[in-house]
This record gives sequence, C-alpha cells and structure tokens, in this order.
Amino acid sequence: MEEVVATRYVTPLREGGSLPGIVEADDLGTYVMKFTGAGQGRKTLVAEVICGELGRRLGLRIPELVTIQLDPVIGLAEPDQEVQELLKASAGLNLGMDYLPGSLGFDPLAYEVGPEEAGRIVWFDALINNVDRSWRNPNMLVWHGDCWLIDHGATMIWHHNWPGAEASAAKPYNASDHVLAPFGPDIAAAAAELAPLVTEELLTEVAAEVPDAWLADEPGFGTTDELRRAYVAPLLSRAAGIHERVVMEAPTRTRPSQAPGWLTEHLAPWPHPTKQDRAAQAHTGPATEEAGR
Ligand SMILES: Nc1ncnc2c1ncn2[C@@H]1O[C@H](COP(=O)(O)OP(=O)(O)OP(=O)(O)O)[C@@H](O)[C@H]1O
Ligand SMILES: [Mg+2]
Repeated sequence: MEEVVATRYVTPLREGGSLPGIVEADDLGTYVMKFTGAGQGRKTLVAEVICGELGRRLGLRIPELVTIQLDPVIGLAEPDQEVQELLKASAGLNLGMDYLPGSLGFDPLAYEVGPEEAGRIVWFDALINNVDRSWRNPNMLVWHGDCWLIDHGATMIWHHNWPGAEASAAKPYNASDHVLAPFGPDIAAAAAELAPLVTEELLTEVAAEVPDAWLADEPGFGTTDELRRAYVAPLLSRAAGIHERVVMEAPTRTRPSQAPGWLTEHLAPWPHPTKQDRAAQAHTGPATEEAGR
C-alpha cells in the first residue's frame, strides 16, 4: 500500500458507525479515512487491509487502500468536538480508501446482480466471515454502473480470540441475511474459480501489507511477523471448504424496502414477485376487472 499524508479534513461521513471522514492528501487524492483512534479499535483496520487486499487480488472490485499519516492539526477548524477528539486520538498512521465520488449505496430493488457475481461476493464474504453485508447494511456501492465492495472491518472474528481461532474458522457461514442472497448466488462456481487462488503465498503477501503499528503488542505473540503468520492458516483452511458450509435459509426477518416511501407505495413488497406470481397476477387481473364491471 502507498503511504500518503493528509492535507485537509473535508467532512465526516455520519452514516458510518466509526465516523470515517473524507480527507484530501498530498498525492492530490481524496480518501475515506478510517481512524486508529475510533472505538472499534485497530483490529478493524487490520481486517480492512487483509480482506481488502485479498479481495482485490481475487478480482473483486474494492477501492484502493493506502495508509495516511495524520497530524491532528489539520482538524483544528472542525467544529464538531467528536471529530476533534477522534483526530487527536489518531495521530500517526491511519487507513485510507480511495473515495468513489458520486457513488450510491447498493439498493437490491434498483440494481440487479447476476448469479456469478453474487456467487463470487457471497463466497468471498463466507471466506472472510463478513457479518456486515446484510440487507440492513449492504456495504456495497454502485459506481459507474458497477458494484464496489467496502467496509471489511467486521470480518475474521477469530482474530479477536487467537487461542480459539482454528475452531472458530471451522464454523459455517450464515448468508441468510446477505444482501445478495435473493440473487441466486452460484457459490459452488465461485469456489471452483477462486479457492485455488487463495494460496499460502497470497495470504502471506496480503498480511505483509499490514503496518507494524497495528499489530504490535498482541498478547501471545512475540513479533508482528508471528502475528501476520497467524492470519494465514484460518483463511487457507476456510478457502478449501467453506462453500459447503454456507447456510442460506429464509431471511431472519421480512426485508423492508430500501427505496423511499414515495416510490415503494407503488411497488410490490419484498421479496420481488417471481415470474409465476406475475403470470398469476396477469391472469387474475383482467378477470377481477371484468367481475367488477
Ligand atoms: N470509498 C468510498 N467512496 C465513497 N463513499 C464511501 C466510501 N467508503 C465509504 N463510503 C461511505 O461512507 C459510509 C461509511 O463507510 P463504512 O461503511 O466503510 O464505515 P463504517 O464506520 O465501517 O460503517 P458501519 O460499520 O456503520 O457500516 C458508507 O456507507 C458509504 O456511504
Ligand atoms: Mg459500513
């Protein structure tokens, strides 16, 4: 990852739980910055790097990541005290993601994803155990007509408890609430294509991208490289067989429409009517009209 220096704090992104901010940097780039001082902790940033770099190498669309040097002085003019405190707590190295200007949050009612692409994304989320791509919070953006994946902080739950990592990584992945579950994801095809690419070498390469500062002083590990190596085995073993342990049942709750009210009033509720439903409706429609006449 490249390292840049923040030159201007532009604005906070209030829809993000960790209060990410848009910043400009000395390479004239604009980034979404995730702060080391955020309450979610630095493991969120480690997960962003490992999963983001891995996903991009597997051919998924994930905006470029950089590390950003922050001098909190750039936030002096920021009136919000919460932002001021976040900046003060985050001096030094933070994470940046290339900002996609004009992108829209993914809306499953407005955007169609094919079974191949849905399969690749669901398989990848199963691999990294991503609990944050549900219909409640899709963490996908649509930009120039394509889907882009963001926010891989809530993944690899096993890195919060290393002694139990092997057992944790052996667990199934529940994709019932995944935002792409209704698109018929072809997970077997995705596994056949992508699993062979997830090698020890590739995982070692992505773990090497994590800055030392975010890995230092992890209990149970002598060096940061020792900790980097610990990230390899769970992902390697999951790549081999997770496609057989993806659970996809009915969603846990009826999905609300994500479209605005003025639009949804005229739309059928989720799930979308199937072809058969529409055919049945077309059939009963005129008959009812006739009956009314
Ligand atoms: N690269 C990007 N380009 C444009 N907008 C972005 C980008 N990354 C994030 N955003 C916007 O910022 C919001 C918050 O980002 P993100 O989901 O990564 O933050 P977060 O704090 O981890 O959020 P949460 O945990 O609440 O889902 C996104 O929902 C999206 O609207
Ligand atoms: Mg998010």
